[in-house]
Order: sequence, then C-alpha cells, then structure tokens
Amino acid sequence: ESGVPLIKTGALTTCTHLPYAPFQSKDSSGKVVGFDVALIDLVATKLGVTQEIVDTPFEGIKSGSDLNSGKCDVAAAGMTITDERKQVLDFSEPYFDATQALAVLTGSPVKTLEGLAGKRLGVQGGTTGEDYIKKQVAEKKLDIEVVSYRDLAALQQALATNQVEAAVNDLPVWNEYIKANPGKVAVAAGFDTGEQYGFAVKKGNTALLETIDEVLAAARADGTYDKIYATWIGE
Ligand code: ARG
Repeated sequence: ESGVPLIKTGALTTCTHLPYAPFQSKDSSGKVVGFDVALIDLVATKLGVTQEIVDTPFEGIKSGSDLNSGKCDVAAAGMTITDERKQVLDFSEPYFDATQALAVLTGSPVKTLEGLAGKRLGVQGGTTGEDYIKKQVAEKKLDIEVVSYRDLAALQQALATNQVEAAVNDLPVWNEYIKANPGKVAVAAGFDTGEQYGFAVKKGNTALLETIDEVLAAARADGTYDKIYATWIGE
C-alpha cells in the first residue's frame, strides 16, 4: 500500500497522445512503448501496480482537462513544461531537454523560415512548436501559410506527400523519423527553444508527484535513466 491515490485499483493510468516516437508509439504488435513509457513503468513498479495507457488528443492533456476530470493519474506525452500549462497542471522535475526543428524533404533548398516565403509550413496542433512558429511568423511578418495537423503522424504524412514544404516539431522526434525512414527527410534548421519535458499530474496530487520525482532521481542515480535513454534516444 503506497498511500498514493489512483483512479483505478491496481493500475497507474497514463494519458498520452500517439504517436510520438521515440517517447510513445505502438510497436509492431500494437503495444505502446517508448522513452516515456519506460520511465512511467518504473513509477508503476514502485507503486506495485501496472501502467495502463490511454491514447487521447494532446489538447485535453495540456489543458489539464484529462487529469483534472480523473481520466488519468499522470500525463506522459513528451510534454514541454510551460508557465501556461503550470497554471492547470503540476509538473514533475524535468526529465528531457528538447528544441524545435524545421524538417524538409531531402534535397529541398529551404534552410530557414524566411526561405518559406509564399509556402506552406506544417505544425502539430496544440504544441509548443505551433506556438513558436505562430509567434515567429507574426513578429517577423513572414509570408508563410501555417497549417496545423491533429497529430504527429498526420504532420509527417503531409511533409512526405508534399502537402507542406516543411514541418516543425521537436528535434528528437525528427531524429527518430530519419532513423526509421533513412534518406527521406532532413533537419534544415534548429530553434533553440530550451524546452524541458515533464510528467504531469492533477493539480494538488503531491503524493503521486513526489513518487514520480523520487523514481526519476533514483533512476538517474543508478544508471537506469541512462539505459532507457540509450535504448530509446540513442547516443
Ligand atoms: N513537446 C511538445 C509540446 O509539449 C509536443 C508534445 C506532443 N506530444 C505528443 N505526445 N503528441 O507541446
């Protein structure tokens, strides 16, 4: 008995939004796996329960509605900690550093946002990448048509089929895509947004938050974090 309240007996229920490899995606057998999944499995083990994953749109995760309505105990979705999200969710200590990146089809001459004048740029709806791009376009008065896609798969498909000239998302996600589809896509530019991912719980769920932070600290101290990093992210 851990004393941590859970919405379902015997389970740690995780909200995520698929696909978001290498953080969460389905393997060939349909099982949800990835960096975030492996870390939250450690938390479930610590609590003596098993992790159950719920796939749900990112909007409901980042807005706090899924956690605050009791759909899940924890959100693990490659989610960046932001001041806005901190108003509605409580975040763990950061567990991953990320930046944004501009991906193009291999051979594209586009190297910068300015180089996208008169063209279409894809982003993922509700993400920090979308926010960053909309802000850049407004501030620099760029002549770019920003198109938002509902998930990463739709965004990557749009790029692969030339629906957009370029696409912005978190760098580790593009690195993973390039590993899985060699030669198709290249990272044309990076934007050092200095993002950090956190796991989130319902506001005030300090018992679960403290367990997550303890598990993360222990995993960093004993090498488990590095092993999981090597498995899912690489060198
Ligand atoms: N890191 C970005 C953000 O927080 C993108 C996260 C998208 N995650 C997902 N599982 N679809 O906005």
